[in-house]
Amino acid sequence: MPAPVTRFDFKTAVSDKRLVGLWRMLTGFRLAYLGAVVGVGVAAVLQTGNALLLRYLVDDVLGQGRFDHILLLIGLGFVALALGQGTLSFLSGALTARTSEGIARRLRNYLYDHIQRMSFTYHDHMETGELIQRATSDVDAVRRFFADQAINAGHIVLLFVINFVALWSLNARLALLSVVVVPLIMVVSVFFFKKVMKAYEAFQEQEAKLSTTLQENLTGVRVVKAFARQAYEQEKFEQDNWEQYQRGRRLLTFHSLFWPSSDILCSFQMVGAFLAGALMAINGTISVGTYLAAVRMIVWLIWPMRNLGRLIVQMSTGMVSYMRVVKLIKEEREPLDAGIYRPSGNVRGEIVFRDVCFEYDNGDSAVLKGISFRGEPGQAVALLGSTGSGKTSLVNLLPRFYEYTGGSLTLDGVELREYPRHYLRQQIGIVEQEPFLFSRTIRENITYGVGRDVSDEEVEAAARMAAIHDVVVSFPDGYNTLVGEKGITLSGGQKQRVAIARTLLKDPRILILDDATSSVDTETEGEIREALERLMEGRTTFIIAHRIQSVMNADLILVLDQGRIVQRGTHDELMAQEGIYRRIYDMQARIEDELEQELTEHASKVWEIPETWEEIWEDETKEEELAYVAL
Ligand SMILES: Nc1ncnc2c1ncn2[C@@H]1O[C@H](COP(=O)(O)OP(=O)(O)OP(=O)(O)O)[C@@H](O)[C@H]1O
Ligand SMILES: [Mg+2]
Repeated sequence: MPAPVTRFDFKTAVSDKRLVGLWRMLTGFRLAYLGAVVGVGVAAVLQTGNALLLRYLVDDVLGQGRFDHILLLIGLGFVALALGQGTLSFLSGALTARTSEGIARRLRNYLYDHIQRMSFTYHDHMETGELIQRATSDVDAVRRFFADQAINAGHIVLLFVINFVALWSLNARLALLSVVVVPLIMVVSVFFFKKVMKAYEAFQEQEAKLSTTLQENLTGVRVVKAFARQAYEQEKFEQDNWEQYQRGRRLLTFHSLFWPSSDILCSFQMVGAFLAGALMAINGTISVGTYLAAVRMIVWLIWPMRNLGRLIVQMSTGMVSYMRVVKLIKEEREPLDAGIYRPSGNVRGEIVFRDVCFEYDNGDSAVLKGISFRGEPGQAVALLGSTGSGKTSLVNLLPRFYEYTGGSLTLDGVELREYPRHYLRQQIGIVEQEPFLFSRTIRENITYGVGRDVSDEEVEAAARMAAIHDVVVSFPDGYNTLVGEKGITLSGGQKQRVAIARTLLKDPRILILDDATSSVDTETEGEIREALERLMEGRTTFIIAHRIQSVMNADLILVLDQGRIVQRGTHDELMAQEGIYRRIYDMQARIEDELEQELTEHASKVWEIPETWEEIWEDETKEEELAYVAL
């Protein structure tokens, strides 16, 4: 059965006043929750009715020596009261569950959606563990607030009021004597409420830190192993865990300090009230039946007092979690649809950069400086440059993952800022530098983001183009093979090719290939390159690559260095110039020549083929060699 849809905009429900916010959160469940409160209220009345019936039995029936049919009626009365109480408890329990679980489900759905709509910048800053903590543990604390604390607080207040009124009607002095410690208990509770709130907040923060560490370690478990850093990681974790232990202990210590203090107060109160009642019964101020009923009422008066204190203290956790969730809800989403320009069809793909500058939010220096170039529709623009020179940052501006901070960037003559992000992302296909595949089937991964029904033939065609079809059919389950933790692990190159197939199927007008063939061998790269070249026809394409061969056919080659374009032109033009480009070319050609020679000389030997020129580029010691090559 598909899950029924829930839509509730929590953004409209948040409030800095915690109780107001929590009340608003109840929207749609208020009737059910009210029913639950009424249920516990009536159950409390029945409970007091029970005590009053007892008083009647002792004073007016047994005391008068009446042993007629009234006894049977009273017996039935007790049974009816018990049944009524049981039924009401069950009903209010069911209604509470419906409310609290319903709110938690709605909140989790909202947060999940909310988190995936945050901007790239937000995710750059926010720790994953913190987000997980808020979407799970904090939601659960809010759920407990409704499931347990709020309803019980309501129940307790009702019990208290009803029993107090009933006791008052029996004997006002006794009633007053039974609640003298209430103000004291309230003061103690509020004191601990504040303490626990602080301690819990610290505890949740640390727990989020621990989940981040754990999550990061699980993701990076291979790095940890490869660098044999288990001991270091263990120590780091133990340190964080020790902090968690201390904060947890502090939290529980407050709880355990609160219990005895409220218990002692309540016990004194109970004994005192019993004693006062007994004295009143002995000197004849109240009847024996009244005394028996009063004892019950006193118990039901003090029990709530004791528990209200506990609940108030526990509520602090719900409040803290509520505020943590609110903080997340208040974060602005990435406005996907915002944009004053509403194009009707597809873009042509003319991209013009004019003096574009860009820096990351947290960055202290500009990552891109004065970038200017023009990409005509259907042209291929290649970006070349050492690691960290800003290639990925440059292409990330196109789908508006990040906003450029200076200059002008137009697509088909319209400033990029005026396009809705959603539209841009439909028009642009990216094969990312480190493609991510979901733990779903290969087919699902390839069809991800197409947004329509796709035939098997189409999927296969895309896979063939990306040179991954043969690999996929070699798996027992073919396209239904699960990828990832529960299924097979694909190699880096295979992942890249699945990502290429995914982008091919999307059929975008603008294509970005961020080092899309970095993890495939030269032979496969050749295969893919042919496919990509066919694919690039008619689309504006940005190719980032480290091998000259991958970029030499581009219409425009830009060489980037530290965020600036240092060389531009076609392959032939760049070859005719002195500069980085020709040096790279010569070096790669030389390496390949040498390699070929070596391979023919030692045909039987297996050589590790240097994949990129960047290692050599960066290596200072090769400077002289480079100079030599450049000559
Ligand atoms: N999300 C980010 N937040 C802050 N700074 C970033 C972010 N991503 C990259 N940078 C910085 O921006 C600079 C350019 O990075 P970028 O990823 O664009 O380089 P690149 O040319 O794609 O390198 P590579 O060839 O290694 O992929 C680097 O100095 C990097 O530290
Ligand atoms: Mg990059």
